[in-house]
Amino acid sequence: MTLALATEPTQAPATQATAIQTPLLQASDIVKTFGGNKALAGVSLDVRHNEVLALVGDNGAGKSTLVKILSGAETPDSGAIAIEGRTHHIASPQDALAAGIATLHQHLGLVDCFNVPQNVFLGRELSTRVLGLFPRLLHARMLQETRRLLAELDIRLPHLDRPVSTMSGGQRQAVAISRLLLGDTRLIIMDEPMAALGVNEGQKVLDLIQRLAAKGISFLIISHNLEHVMSISSRVAVLKNGRLVGAVDTNKTSRQDITSMIVHGRT
Ligand SMILES: Nc1ncnc2c1ncn2[C@@H]1O[C@H](COP(=O)(O)OP(=O)(O)OP(=O)(O)O)[C@@H](O)[C@H]1O
Ligand SMILES: [Mg+2]
Repeated sequence: MTLALATEPTQAPATQATAIQTPLLQASDIVKTFGGNKALAGVSLDVRHNEVLALVGDNGAGKSTLVKILSGAETPDSGAIAIEGRTHHIASPQDALAAGIATLHQHLGLVDCFNVPQNVFLGRELSTRVLGLFPRLLHARMLQETRRLLAELDIRLPHLDRPVSTMSGGQRQAVAISRLLLGDTRLIIMDEPMAALGVNEGQKVLDLIQRLAAKGISFLIISHNLEHVMSISSRVAVLKNGRLVGAVDTNKTSRQDITSMIVHGRT
């Protein structure tokens, strides 16, 4: 895991300024049609380094379609995606992961009867070969690595050795998020992450997102909850009828302004 992006050794000031200006991800003129229905009619949107970008809009505005395209679950009819200024062809979730874009799906993708390290290392288990032949899983190493990862993320889970089915919704979400950070993830996309959580659990996930953002991970989060959006995001992008109404700095706007953008489609 590389969580040190925000505290990487300093570069020459000019280079650093250029690096900061180049968006982490740049989607340009994305068009997606389902049958005769234009879900996205040419959307351009940047995700910057170290930001929590909220994506809001009415039902059917095109939010899920846009993030599915960025995460490789859908392919656009036209348009381009660049990461750190370089064009990437994202045709599958594997392509997105290779580019550092991980998506947290609502179903979380956890195996209920597995414990925490088994879920964190799911599909990427650490193993060795006994006598050079027989594969053997390195359970102790995976437990140790999971502990290190959770400590680094400041996530406290009481029992790492219990099945995740015994955990609360927020704890399960924390496990799913840690899992995304095992690789070289730079952007985490979430579609309505807090929708299924209670108030306290939701707050813990919001806190975790903010801690990770401070460590250099960017987030693109779809939410209908404007209270969450105002408390967590650095910018808010509004979609309406498959078009971007605008993207505004959260601290320079209000809930009323955002609502007006969602309803009337103008800034
Ligand atoms: N697989 C699909 N097949 C046909 N139409 C689709 C498909 N996915 C999305 N659409 C249509 O595209 C438009 C945008 O849908 P999308 O799911 O992106 O909206 P959304 O902003 O995520 O809405 P919500 O807030 O309700 O989740 C809608 O008109 C929807 O009916
Ligand atoms: Mg949706």
